[in-house]
Amino acid sequence: MSGRIETMATLTAKTDEQLLEELIPEAERLINRHFGVQKEWFPHEYIPWDESSKLDENGNSEEAKELDDGTKSALFVNLLTEDNLPYYYYDIDRMFGKSEIWKYWTRRWTAEEGRHSIAIRDYITVKGLLDPKELERARMSQVEGGQTPHPPNVRDGFAYLAIQELATRISHHNTGKRLKDKKGQALMRRIAIDENLHYLFYRDMTTAALDENPSATVEAIDRQITGFQMPGAGIKDFVKHSRKIAKAGIYNFSLHSDSIVKPLVYGHWKIDKISGLSDAAKSAQEHLIKFTDKIGKIAQKLKAKSGESSEVSDTSEESEGD
Ligand SMILES: [Fe+2]
Ligand SMILES: [Fe+2]
Repeated sequence: MSGRIETMATLTAKTDEQLLEELIPEAERLINRHFGVQKEWFPHEYIPWDESSKLDENGNSEEAKELDDGTKSALFVNLLTEDNLPYYYYDIDRMFGKSEIWKYWTRRWTAEEGRHSIAIRDYITVKGLLDPKELERARMSQVEGGQTPHPPNVRDGFAYLAIQELATRISHHNTGKRLKDKKGQALMRRIAIDENLHYLFYRDMTTAALDENPSATVEAIDRQITGFQMPGAGIKDFVKHSRKIAKAGIYNFSLHSDSIVKPLVYGHWKIDKISGLSDAAKSAQEHLIKFTDKIGKIAQKLKAKSGESSEVSDTSEESEGD
């Protein structure tokens, strides 16, 4: 990728339809890679069914009282985010669904994401970790609201999804580490592995889009990284829950900077190494690098202040398929 010396500064960006058509071989390669590492799994095998006998008549448990607020908020937000799947499907199918291979990927992705909400809900319900009435009302409100991000085009969509899947991987992984039981830990680890594979697909589609037209794609990456919002932003009391999640170290500013923005901008997409961009893309490149360095410095200061380790607490392997 470092050889991506732009000689196409004046290249006219393809339409979404032309771009998707051109990227069909790459989509086929990445889908085959996905199936090469992914293994079938079953939600019911991760649920401690016998623990349902400990629930009171309202579906609550003693164990819920011992679980910290940050982990409860993370389970709540993670599940409601997965519950909003119909709208993500709608968005992704609208963006990518021009030909059969893309439609196939979108359906497959939807089926995999659906498994996450089934499994997390079963786990929470059987363990009585969240109030079932509150959870159901929040789900109704979340899905009724239908609030999701709407990337303006395919390049922005690839970049947004890469960031979002990586953020989701980190959040599930770190939530699992805070659960007290082995089944819960294994479940969240299992889901994080799926999210990792989704992340790899979209990260590498973004790379292919960069190779196809660096200028148009750098502008898209800049928009999506500097304006990124987690997909659960429409959830009731999202800010309150986000603060608790951040305080627990499950997902916070430092993780966002050190585990998402920096590795994507400098590590994978090597934005700083791309030359020969159009004027608008050059501005976007400078803007993005400035942003990355700025939030990196803030993250360092925050970590020094809180005594937080500079070690990133998300340890899932990028190549991990199982
Ligand atoms: Fe998911
Ligand atoms: Fe995912």
